[in-house]
Amino acid sequence: MTASQRGANPAPNSGKYLVTGGAGYVGSVVAAHLLEAGHSVTVLDDLSTGFREAVPEGAEFVEGRVQDAGRVLDASYDGVLHFAAHSQVGESVQDPAKYWRNNVGGSIELLGAMREAGVRRLVFSSTAATYGEPLRTPITEDAFEAPTNPYGASKLAVDHMISGECRAHGLAAVSLRYFNVAGAYGRYGERHDPESHLIPIVLQVAQGRREAVSVFGDDYPTPDGTCVRDYIHVADLAEAHLLAMTAMTGGDSGESGPGEVPPGTHLICNLGNGNGFSVREVIETVRKVTGHPVPETPAPRREGDPAALVASAERAINSLGWHPSRTDLAEIVDDAWDFTQRYTGQAGTS
Ligand SMILES: NC(=O)c1ccc[n+]([C@@H]2O[C@H](COP(=O)([O-])OP(=O)(O)OC[C@H]3O[C@@H](n4cnc5c(N)ncnc54)[C@H](O)[C@@H]3O)[C@@H](O)[C@H]2O)c1
Repeated sequence: MTASQRGANPAPNSGKYLVTGGAGYVGSVVAAHLLEAGHSVTVLDDLSTGFREAVPEGAEFVEGRVQDAGRVLDASYDGVLHFAAHSQVGESVQDPAKYWRNNVGGSIELLGAMREAGVRRLVFSSTAATYGEPLRTPITEDAFEAPTNPYGASKLAVDHMISGECRAHGLAAVSLRYFNVAGAYGRYGERHDPESHLIPIVLQVAQGRREAVSVFGDDYPTPDGTCVRDYIHVADLAEAHLLAMTAMTGGDSGESGPGEVPPGTHLICNLGNGNGFSVREVIETVRKVTGHPVPETPAPRREGDPAALVASAERAINSLGWHPSRTDLAEIVDDAWDFTQRYTGQAGTS
């Protein structure tokens, strides 16, 4: 394990946080938001799917596995934001053990290290994949949980583990169940390899790095026949993480957050913008924003692809005081396009 780049002097009343997976897409954006809010940040990442250059300046970087968090954590930390995980649905079906080992095994070790060090606040990246095929939309947190792949099952298992840890050992935790995260925050954006998310794939077509986008099914019971998903801007998502931590710490002033999450409590909140957009709407928006043609290829439905997945984010709004403000698809695509043009497609990047 190597440590580099000591964090800048923190502001008074700021917190000190460990961000696992902070060299990845969502973790880097949240780390940047924490630093901008005056907190001190340590990023722990093994760079298995992340990038060293995505770690924000001002964060301390420790290259290592979340399984070794005990070598980093001590009582000086105010909390942990846990992003480190494998998250490719298809890969999880091919190699389920890899997902149980990393996502569940890593989280067991992290919870133990937190207990050992006396660090008692956790924000966890959960996912809409914990619900599987919804019986009703928008999806609320009391919906039936029936994940359809090992990735979703591994995240649901961690949510159960966290609930037990809260009850048994007084941890305070917030699990945030993201729907489709999209957009970028300046130089922090999405670079998965292989890329499985729709917006970056369509942008790669606009950029000339892929020939066409496959449209999997156009006969779903949706307005234009293509699948509908809920896209949430990564900067809105980041703000929810800071609010979640405030709900547990009471914030800089020592006052309680809007939806106080005391020790022993595990709050689970969906994060989505509550608006679904179809595959066709995404492709059309990319054409408008980029000015490039985007050829499409019709393809058969994919097994297990629900017609529509849209979040109810009422609980995050009421309990955390969260207000997503970048809900326009064109703005989400525009920010992602800016990132794609500036930071991807060069040698050494994916
Ligand atoms: N991107 C989405 O749309 C989305 C949706 C729902 C949930 N999530 C969850 O959000 C989190 C972040 O997703 P992302 O899109 O930023 O993925 P990402 O692959 O860009 O980031 C994950 C980071 O974790 C690191 N990592 C993985 N295993 C590790 C380990 N054992 N020890 C240390 N570091 C490790 C990787 O190197 C990478 O930097 C994940 O937990 C994912 O399941 C993402």
